[in-house]
Amino acid sequence: MDEVRVAVIGAGVVGLSTALCVAETVPNCSVTVIAEEFSPHTTSDVAAGVLSPHLSPETPIDRQRRWFKDTFAHIYSIAQSAEAPDVGVQFLSGWEIFEEPPKERIPFWSDVMLAFRVMNNSELKRFPQATFGWMYTTLQCDCTLYLPWLEKRLKKAGGRLQVGKVTDLWELDGKYDIVVNCSGIGARALTEDMQIYPVRGQVHKVHAPWLKHFVRTGDGTIYVYPGINSVTLGGTRQRGDWRMSVDPFDSKTIFEKCCAYEPSLKLCRKLSEGVGLRPTRDVLRLEKEKLKRGSRQIFVVHNYGHGGAGVTFHWGTAKEAAQLVKEIIPEVRHRPSYTTSKL
Ligand SMILES: Cc1cc2nc3c(=O)[nH]c(=O)nc-3n(C[C@H](O)[C@H](O)[C@H](O)COP(=O)(O)OP(=O)(O)OC[C@H]3O[C@@H](n4cnc5c(N)ncnc54)[C@H](O)[C@@H]3O)c2cc1C
Ligand SMILES: *[C@@H]1O[C@H](CO)[C@@H](O)[C@H](O)[C@H]1NC(C)=O
Ligand SMILES: *[C@@H]1O[C@H](CO)[C@@H](O)[C@H](O)[C@H]1NC(C)=O
Ligand SMILES: *[C@@H]1O[C@H](CO)[C@@H](O)[C@H](O)[C@H]1NC(C)=O
Repeated sequence: MDEVRVAVIGAGVVGLSTALCVAETVPNCSVTVIAEEFSPHTTSDVAAGVLSPHLSPETPIDRQRRWFKDTFAHIYSIAQSAEAPDVGVQFLSGWEIFEEPPKERIPFWSDVMLAFRVMNNSELKRFPQATFGWMYTTLQCDCTLYLPWLEKRLKKAGGRLQVGKVTDLWELDGKYDIVVNCSGIGARALTEDMQIYPVRGQVHKVHAPWLKHFVRTGDGTIYVYPGINSVTLGGTRQRGDWRMSVDPFDSKTIFEKCCAYEPSLKLCRKLSEGVGLRPTRDVLRLEKEKLKRGSRQIFVVHNYGHGGAGVTFHWGTAKEAAQLVKEIIPEVRHRPSYTTSKL
């Protein structure tokens, strides 16, 4: 039987993991990733990569919970293996603190994290700014290592990687049977989906190897995340801001705010700075669609709009997207143009 040809647009954490799930779980198909940029030049490479499910509640919580649980389980199993440091994965414990207590004192994801608990008053003393806080152990995934590892695994599973910009989906018609849309913020131009917008994030990478715990504020505007190779300091959440250049004013503010929570940072050595545009949408788009133009039709699976939580949800959404691809395959095989083009 002929293989079904699947193209995945995008080589960030969402595209590569989706391509891998398709290649490893959907029988009789070939997978090609087409992307303008690969690691280390994607938004995913800028992320601190911490599993932390902060996504707007318009995406139903039960879906968020399932995606997070699946992603946590997947990264957890890597974290326990000997290859963890090469894949860029590690456990990370720390404090999430609030100047004002949150509405929900126990978040929906608390039982997925390890050792989640509300901080007591003596623990809160460490942070003069805080009136409330959580302590938990999560997982972190450094995408500058994780993405190349996904690429390697994908090639092993028979997948192909191709550099290129897709300006019109119909240019793929005839070459591929199913297109999976994992283009992040690129979906705006590509799909004319005006519901997707950037939330600009600027970060600072520093050398401060004495830091072993993370500190973040509940709103995600200030964070200190020790990673495998460096500590990520952030950040900004600038809605509708497309600037990709480092803003010196942001740099200064980020550093000052982080020092207020972690004073020892004054002794750190600065390594680099980066900017990424979080592909934000009120509702993460994960669904299938059949597009028609005259007598032609093309099957699409959309998987984009992960906002500030693409690493957090990537594996769960990749599994679900692969399932959608699987569901489409019988339809592709019965499509008249499929059989004629294969004759
Ligand atoms: C400062 C910062 C910190 C963050 N920290 C975290 C964190 O701690 N935890 C977390 O979970 N998330 C975090 N995020 C969010 C996370 O980075 C994103 O949710 C995630 O990277 C989205 O992944 P993606 O694969 O959808 O998009 P991207 O990584 O942007 O990948 C998109 C891909 O599509 C390609 N593409 C786009 N348009 C086209 C086209 N027309 N043709 C061909 N290719 C195209 C691009 O070249 C690229 O390969 C952070 C983001 C920022 C900016
Ligand atoms: C996959 O292809 C093989 C060989 O052509 C065939 O025997 C098998 O039934 C196919 N599997 C599915 C699930 O279509
Ligand atoms: C707060 O928790 C710590 C453990 O981190 C414990 O040692 C301490 O006794 C607790 N304090 C109170 C007041 O419960
Ligand atoms: C993404 O989906 C939209 C339809 O909503 C479509 O117009 C666009 O071409 C798609 N892009 C790709 C590459 O799948």
